[in-house]
Amino acid sequence: MGKPRVFGRFIAHNRTRVVLREPESEDLEGLLAFVNELVTEKKEDKNSQLFTGFESRFDRRQESKWLRELLARIRDGGVLCVLAEVDGEIVGNGEIVRGEYAETRHHGRLALTIDETHRGLGIGREMLKALLTEAGRVGLKTVHVEFLSTNKSALRAYRKTGFKKVGTIPKKVYRNGTFVDSLIMARDL
Ligand SMILES: CC(C)(COP(=O)(O)OP(=O)(O)OC[C@H]1O[C@@H](n2cnc3c(N)ncnc32)[C@H](O)[C@@H]1OP(=O)(O)O)[C@@H](O)C(=O)NCCC(=O)NCCS
Repeated sequence: MGKPRVFGRFIAHNRTRVVLREPESEDLEGLLAFVNELVTEKKEDKNSQLFTGFESRFDRRQESKWLRELLARIRDGGVLCVLAEVDGEIVGNGEIVRGEYAETRHHGRLALTIDETHRGLGIGREMLKALLTEAGRVGLKTVHVEFLSTNKSALRAYRKTGFKKVGTIPKKVYRNGTFVDSLIMARDL
C-alpha cells in the first residue's frame, strides 16, 4: 500500500507539529488507543461533552473490522475521513458521511473528536477546514453536525467555521440520570 494522502500540516498553539491525513490499515493500534481513551474519558468524567457512542472498550478484532469497513467506505466515496497525527500518535478523527440516497448524496453528516489532551490547540479548526474543503471538492453542497446542547467548545468551533444553529432535538440523550438536548448546526459549502 502507498502512503496515505496528506491534507495538510501545521503547527498547533502549543508548538507541536500536526499532520492531517487519511487513515490506512496500519493505523489499527493508533485508532484503538485513540477510541479507548475516549471510552475512558466518558466513563470517568461526568462532565464529558463527548456525544453518543464510546460506551464500552473496543478490542482489536472489533476495531479491525471497523477500520476495514471505514477504508472501504472511503474508497467508494461514502465517507471522507481526516485524522490528526502528533508525533506518530492519532489525536483527532473527523468524518463526513455522505447521504446514501440519490436525493441526499449532496449532503454530509459531520463528526469530529479530538482527544482530551489536545483540545483547544487549534487542531479541530484545521480539521474542520480540511474536511469542508474536501467535501466541496467531491461535490457536497450542505453539511450538518449534531452534538450535546451543553457543549460550548463545539458550538464555538462550528460557529467560527460558518455553521448556523438549525435546531435541537429535545431530550435526545439520556446520561447520568438526566435528559440532555442535542443541537444541530448546518452550513452550505
Ligand atoms: C469540539 C472540538 C472538536 C473542537 O476542537 P478543538 O481542537 O478543541 O478546537 P480548536 O482549538 O480548533 O478551537 C476552535 C474554536 O473553538 C473555540 N474553542 C475551542 N475550545 C474552546 C473552549 N474550551 N472554550 C472556548 N472556546 C473554545 C475557540 O475559540 C476556537 O476559535 P479560535 O481558533 O478563533 O480561537 C473538540 O474540543 C472536541 O473533540 N471535543 C470533544 C468532542 C466533541 O465535542 N465533538 C464535537 C461534537 S461532533
